[in-house]
Amino acid sequence: MPMKSKSFDRLSSLLGDEGERIWAALQAARVYLEQTDERDLLRHIGKTIESIPSAKHLDKRLIQASYVKGPAEAPDDLLTGQGLFYLTEQRRLFLDCTAGHYQMTWGYNSPELTRVARLAMEAGIVWDDHSDIPGNPIKCLAAQLVRVAGPHGGGPANPAEDDGALNTVNLGVCTGSSAASTALKIILKYFEATRPGAGPVIVTMNGNYHGMDFLAQRLRGMWEKYFCSVHVVGIEPNDTAALRRAFHEHEGRVAAFFAEPILMNREAILLEKGFLQEARTLCDEADAAMVIDEIQTGFWRPEVFMFHQFDIVPDMLIVGKGMTSGFHPLAALLFKRKYDCLEQYDAINTNGNAPLAAMVALGCLSLVEQNGNRLADLSRYYEDRLREIPQEHPNRVAAIHGKGLLAGVKFRTVADALSFHRRCLERGLWVRVHAYHEGHSTVLTKLGLLADREVVDVVVNTFLDILREVGDE
Ligand SMILES: Cc1ncc(COP(=O)(O)O)c(C=O)c1O
Repeated sequence: MPMKSKSFDRLSSLLGDEGERIWAALQAARVYLEQTDERDLLRHIGKTIESIPSAKHLDKRLIQASYVKGPAEAPDDLLTGQGLFYLTEQRRLFLDCTAGHYQMTWGYNSPELTRVARLAMEAGIVWDDHSDIPGNPIKCLAAQLVRVAGPHGGGPANPAEDDGALNTVNLGVCTGSSAASTALKIILKYFEATRPGAGPVIVTMNGNYHGMDFLAQRLRGMWEKYFCSVHVVGIEPNDTAALRRAFHEHEGRVAAFFAEPILMNREAILLEKGFLQEARTLCDEADAAMVIDEIQTGFWRPEVFMFHQFDIVPDMLIVGKGMTSGFHPLAALLFKRKYDCLEQYDAINTNGNAPLAAMVALGCLSLVEQNGNRLADLSRYYEDRLREIPQEHPNRVAAIHGKGLLAGVKFRTVADALSFHRRCLERGLWVRVHAYHEGHSTVLTKLGLLADREVVDVVVNTFLDILREVGDE
């Protein structure tokens, strides 16, 4: 009997009783986003787009509590998005200033990368396969990652033979959490082999975020009572004295130093070059692994990986999120060959060996490299314009954090940060706020790489407008 697929003639039927009406809203929203030019879209952010038919959207009472924000009966979740813009189920238009959940390098459904995926599928590139037979896209992506992690301006011709290079790649991991967890497992295994019986110490930044794995969460203070022999030392970002103290106090036991160049989960604090260089030296002296987590910073800069800016080479580099621009998740861990000590099933995900996602990652990398000069210019422009904010409103805004398109507006009070965030949402600017930990009062942005000077002007002018409206007293 032939396989049945009749219901696919009308995809709306997959969405249940309300499917037809939801589909009509979706299609009208897509046409609106496709046919309205960027200037008009920028003029309409925050407004309800009446030309899109309204529909009753599905409630989310069956979804876990932490997802159910806002009213369950009339949710205002995402309807569709394109580029830097998205429309909600209530047909409100937003300018997304955080690239979704910080992962959509080229915005929602980048036409270029959609084309890569479509052409790749038509050419026979498969969605997924077994990790024993990784296929050309995965092998090519591994080679490209090693290339961009290598020294700029030409390094050794054969990185595979170079002990100091990030020349080994695990591309069998689906998400950043799996890549970070792979790094942690390698660290424990390497430590056990080189210092058997000792309890490993991991030095981290207070306020870090390295994903959802148990040990990664232990690095940020969770599950403490379940870990008996792993000791975590948290230090303040850029506190070089505390860094030295940590290595000194735990001499012989430091297994790793873990850090993100910009702590996007702690107010976009930027690590300083001198601090990271000191960490490099201390790691070398202690045979501790220096792990740089570029899940946030990777693929968001002209040089692809930010660690190049600090004139260091980490021992391990964690990448994910922006690598596939939000397509089927694929992450990677790059490391120096001496850390290649795990067995096959110690660190792979079923869906982490994804040839199609690898093609999209290759397309994403190519776009980043092709647009290097434009990105450098845009990043400088955004930094310059953001600096106007604390200059004009020093009583309310203490500083601008971050670097380039990953930027935080640090407020002097939590109340100001929360009220500013609410006003941004009312005006159709999707930004995030860090105000849920003591002392946190920062509004975060991570502009997608599609942004141009006009988008930057709308974002910064809206920020300034809001502050002028609120006043400085
Ligand atoms: C710095 C950093 N590391 C790791 C992760 C975990 O990545 P994923 O959500 O893909 O598991 C994140 C996610 O936000 C992150 O920001």
